[in-house]
Amino acid sequence: MKIDFPEQFWWGAATSGPQSEGRFNKKHANVFDHWFEIEPDAFYDQVGPDVASNFYNSYKEDIALMKEIGLNSFRTSIQWTRLIDDFEEATVNEDAVRFYNAVIDECLLQGIRPVINLFHFDMPIALQKKYGGWESKHVVELYVKFASKCFQLFGDRVTEWFTFNEPLVIVDGAYLYQFHYPKLVDGRKAVQVAYNIALASAKAVKAYRKINTHVDGKIGIILNLTPSYPASDDPADLSAARFADLWMNEMFLDAAVKGQFPKELTDTFQKDGVLWDASEAELYQIAENTIDLLGVNFYHPNRVQRPDVSADSLAVDWLPTKYFDGFAMPGRRMNVDKGWEIYPQALYDIALNIRDNYGNIPWFVSENGMGVSKEERYLNEDGIIEDDYRIQFIQEHLYWLAKGMAEGSNCFGFHLWTPIDCWSWMNAYRNRYGFISTNIHTQVKTIKKSGRWFRKVVEENQLEV
Ligand code: NOJ
Repeated sequence: MKIDFPEQFWWGAATSGPQSEGRFNKKHANVFDHWFEIEPDAFYDQVGPDVASNFYNSYKEDIALMKEIGLNSFRTSIQWTRLIDDFEEATVNEDAVRFYNAVIDECLLQGIRPVINLFHFDMPIALQKKYGGWESKHVVELYVKFASKCFQLFGDRVTEWFTFNEPLVIVDGAYLYQFHYPKLVDGRKAVQVAYNIALASAKAVKAYRKINTHVDGKIGIILNLTPSYPASDDPADLSAARFADLWMNEMFLDAAVKGQFPKELTDTFQKDGVLWDASEAELYQIAENTIDLLGVNFYHPNRVQRPDVSADSLAVDWLPTKYFDGFAMPGRRMNVDKGWEIYPQALYDIALNIRDNYGNIPWFVSENGMGVSKEERYLNEDGIIEDDYRIQFIQEHLYWLAKGMAEGSNCFGFHLWTPIDCWSWMNAYRNRYGFISTNIHTQVKTIKKSGRWFRKVVEENQLEV
């Protein structure tokens, strides 16, 4: 069967500044740079972000490889800690301006649309230490200054901007489950951080609309959406799945697209005594500054059952898992070695949810992909990686995406995570996701079988399944 995709469909891939550039010529450290400095053992094989995939030095060659596999669009992020010199004043580092200009211009020269995200987990450590990072509304203002600087400097050529990548991961990782620095377990702070990020995003949208220097300019947010499927029809499982959706999906999605948080969620926070500090004026800004377009990162579904902890047994003040638990679906299909369930149909469910409940806002798959450890570490580092499992994974996800589009969902693109194997936080280089491999010792980059396959899909604008 052959499936045609619309003209102008974005075929691309995504990375981030902190995961690809390396720390070359970067004056300030972000929370991950700092964490690696003080606790290298927390990172897989003790590999930190110092070199990453060397994009700072090899962006030209890397973009040429992206062109070779047919990409027509590429997302990365501008690092706050690279661009800005003085965080309070938002003065810039000239070398960073030169670098990001060069990246954007090189993409345009090669016919690749540069898509820019402004925050990818990379809080400056100085702001984390001094103000508590996203716990602070002053930091919200500093972020808006940084964002405004980006719009002024690069907005004449970049037409699609995103305020945040996966804000829920910051909340979960840094304030509840300890996989992001500062590794706190603090429900109240978590909830405030969620609110402050939603506010920061709205304020950046507002700033963009004031500054925007391009007639086609648009701005949105990138959210990891994981539909929650209940274990059974039992009301306890259904209400667990409902809360999981509220916390994991609707909190940021409703704020960004509808301009308000779900009442069911804020009522629960209120009842539990963890409702955030929000002013009428701020809520008005969130309501006024909704997004133009949405990015959706999707990797795996969320299987949900009633929680097995009671409120009283919680060791900390508040956890969302008071209301739900995840479980492993019997008979599930698994990613070769990452431990994530493969369920491509969820992409169809997401497509219809956006169509039916979010005004059919224009959206794209901003990340999808398969992290592979064993197969891509020990075999064939310098040769071609025969990643047929990745081809199949993408095919199946595109199939369900196309079905959602055929039924009217307004999706305009698909980006794989990631073009070139890059550094992945605490996992460092454990899992490889790219169309192109990186030999982390020599920095030699080689197109995988999936990269060659993808080129054909892009050229034909068609998927054969
Ligand atoms: C989500 C994030 O945006 C990215 O930073 C991460 O490395 C990938 N997914 C893979 O887990």
